[in-house]
Amino acid sequence: MVVRFVPLSDQNLAAVLQIEKLSNLSPWSEQSFRNEFNHTHGIARAVLLDGEVVGFGVAWLLVDECHVTNIAIHPDHRRKGLGDKLMRELLVLSREGGMTCATLEVRASNEAAQLLYEKLGFKKTALRKRYYPDNQEDAVVMWLYDLRGWDS
Ligand SMILES: CC(C)(COP(=O)(O)OP(=O)(O)OC[C@H]1O[C@@H](n2cnc3c(N)ncnc32)[C@H](O)[C@@H]1OP(=O)(O)O)[C@@H](O)C(=O)NCCC(=O)NCCS
Repeated sequence: MVVRFVPLSDQNLAAVLQIEKLSNLSPWSEQSFRNEFNHTHGIARAVLLDGEVVGFGVAWLLVDECHVTNIAIHPDHRRKGLGDKLMRELLVLSREGGMTCATLEVRASNEAAQLLYEKLGFKKTALRKRYYPDNQEDAVVMWLYDLRGWDS
């Protein structure tokens, strides 16, 4: 099983959009992903498993903060450690880009993602009430305060 990370591009966009539709209640548009292709303050990666696109991750780099905005793994390939590898890739690249901390929002009902983030060292710090317009769900705000000291 060979896992690789490559920049989001026209080559993997169709597969990424498909994974997004299968994973997100309010999927990002094609244009939203295209905006990330050559983002100077962002990281956008597709996950390849033995050459097949099976996931993606996007993070914005804001001053000294990595903000993970969207990640997903294809439902057929979950629980294989790929989400963990993807997050580590995003965090390592962010740190190499000078970021000192990382944050994200996650749906209150999304236990799988919360457990993944906690395993990586993120802490739940706040609740944003009715943050998601599609179903009025709360967002849990999570932080990894010390990215420099984080054990990748
Ligand atoms: C969240 C997501 C990316 C996890 O990807 P994954 O490849 O299945 O995760 P991994 O196999 O790397 O799991 C890593 C850890 O996350 C936690 N985890 C992941 N899925 C879990 C589940 N269904 N139930 C419980 N814990 C889970 C576990 O702690 C797991 O470690 P373990 O396998 O040693 O128990 C994937 O479920 C997904 O794409 N979900 C839909 C999109 C989404 O929710 N994105 C996040 C938005 S904030």
